[in-house]
Amino acid sequence: MCGIIGYSGPLEAGNILLNGLSQLEYRGYDSAGIGYFDTASKVHVVKETGKVAKLKETLSSAGDGSHCGIGHTRWATHGGVSDVNAHPHRAGRVTLIHNGIIENYHRLTQEFDLESSLLSQTDSEVAAWILDRFYDGDAQSAIRKLAECIVGSYAFCIMFDDRPGEIYAIRSVSPLVASYTPSGALIASDLTALIPYTKSYFVVPEGHIVKITGYKISVFNLDGEKTAPEMMEINWNTDAAMKNGFPHFMLKEIHEQPEAMKNTILPRMAKGLPDFTDDGIPDDIFAGCSQIHIVACGTAMHAGMVARALMEPVLRIPVMVSIASEFRYEEPLINEHTLVIIISQSGETIDTLAALRLSKSYGSRTLSIVNVKGSTIARESDYVLYTHAGPEIAVASTKAYSVQLAALYMISCRMALVRGSFTKSQASAFLTDLLDAIPAMETMISRKIEEKNMVTHLINQQDTFFMGRGLDYAFSLEGALKLKEISYIHAEAYAAGELKHGTIALITQDVPVIAIATQEHVFSKMISNVREVKARGAFVILLTKEHAQADQGLADIHIRIPDLDDRFTVFPIAVILQLIAYYASVGKNLDVDQPRNLAKSVTVE
Ligand code: G6P
Repeated sequence: MCGIIGYSGPLEAGNILLNGLSQLEYRGYDSAGIGYFDTASKVHVVKETGKVAKLKETLSSAGDGSHCGIGHTRWATHGGVSDVNAHPHRAGRVTLIHNGIIENYHRLTQEFDLESSLLSQTDSEVAAWILDRFYDGDAQSAIRKLAECIVGSYAFCIMFDDRPGEIYAIRSVSPLVASYTPSGALIASDLTALIPYTKSYFVVPEGHIVKITGYKISVFNLDGEKTAPEMMEINWNTDAAMKNGFPHFMLKEIHEQPEAMKNTILPRMAKGLPDFTDDGIPDDIFAGCSQIHIVACGTAMHAGMVARALMEPVLRIPVMVSIASEFRYEEPLINEHTLVIIISQSGETIDTLAALRLSKSYGSRTLSIVNVKGSTIARESDYVLYTHAGPEIAVASTKAYSVQLAALYMISCRMALVRGSFTKSQASAFLTDLLDAIPAMETMISRKIEEKNMVTHLINQQDTFFMGRGLDYAFSLEGALKLKEISYIHAEAYAAGELKHGTIALITQDVPVIAIATQEHVFSKMISNVREVKARGAFVILLTKEHAQADQGLADIHIRIPDLDDRFTVFPIAVILQLIAYYASVGKNLDVDQPRNLAKSVTVE
């Protein structure tokens, strides 16, 4: 939700800010802007609706010679998409960019009598004006007073007209990372903007003020005392955040899945068994729990749905999955005997973070599965299992989903071993099966899905249905989400047996139905469900294992995956479903990596 960057140093600030905004654009892309000190130390702001590429054209040589500035790419919350609502906001001597939501902005507008000063409809501009009111030459004191007024989440980068070369920042909940590098000092919403310049960084601590100048970064607590933030290492390289010859990040990330799986699984295997010693995750959290509650949003929540279907039959304890935005406002039935598993690619999703904090307040042990090192969820969880997918740039999640599943499968296996549900040889066989899923993914990546006529069929339809039973139903939830988010084709996932209780009314001639039938114990039931929709004229795309018995003519398109144990078919199936969505989006000539209205990291409610 909104990308923020700030730079002060010897290089041309304009280039650094614009390149940084391109890297951060997946956080929001309805408008963009930069503010900078020119060679005469005067502040300029250029901002407009549209993507960063458009801003680059508008700017052309503006900003030349500047060595200090801030940039923002927006995902609108308060106030529509317009030039005036784009950031930075100017208020008196203040230039400010913001990520987050100021919940009490309306009351603050009245309290500070700002109605006549405001040019935009944003909550952010209110903060800029309040800061200007408080500013008497002491930047830190003004920022502290601002922070005391605000209810909500924020990451601010601020410049004051009379302090050329300086940027100030403060955050509450919304993320900010910073680094001092030989090329100057940088601050940004996330690591992707820092990767080209440095390998070391720190997470801006909440409730601290950061002061950036061309030659150093200083961090102060709210009492004005200097503190030393904990430095961390980036283990991603610049290549990881580039397309490397692929037309889209999404396709590149689909191809990266086998490698990401290996990177996530192999370091956690010892003598053929899952081992979390290096992650510092003790077995007693697995042994001592009487139930598991998985909480996440979006694709991460769908990974949780798969885990539930996998874990319950093995562990024989209740496994629940909750949508974080619901869970956080419930009175969940969790306690100190509950293991709460939090899943988040970014580690910053605000609802998921709130769910984590709520779980801790109930005394539950918390284990998070996170991709971004040092993110808030990772830092606040009792234990963290990092996935090693590298940066995921496309808004539609692909490789992060696969590695979240890999992590969940390993947790299930370790837990089954610790609790005596698996013998050592069963656990070892389970991991061998998990590793066997990787070549199966490679096989599906190399199949020419786009050459089948299904994409042509899909892109001409308004609605599609996905169906499956058991684990296949859990997989189909993610397949439907992938298709709708990037192709804008309405897609619904159904437990196949439930379709006839209403939804089958929507099946008419040529409506595509993607039927996943990889679970042997319900295979014949699934085939009956396929016949039911086929009899009503549906265009059926059937996904089965290689040697599944399915009559000729049952499906319009039949895609076979390598024969795997039923529990592991999700991995190659995920690849197919991602590719179907990808080629449908390409076929409709849409923006695959940055679909409309979405953002990669949802740090607002
Ligand atoms: C957004 C993204 C999804 C993602 C979800 C949860 O909606 O577009 O791809 O699954 O947030 O994000 P997280 O970072 O918590 O996994």
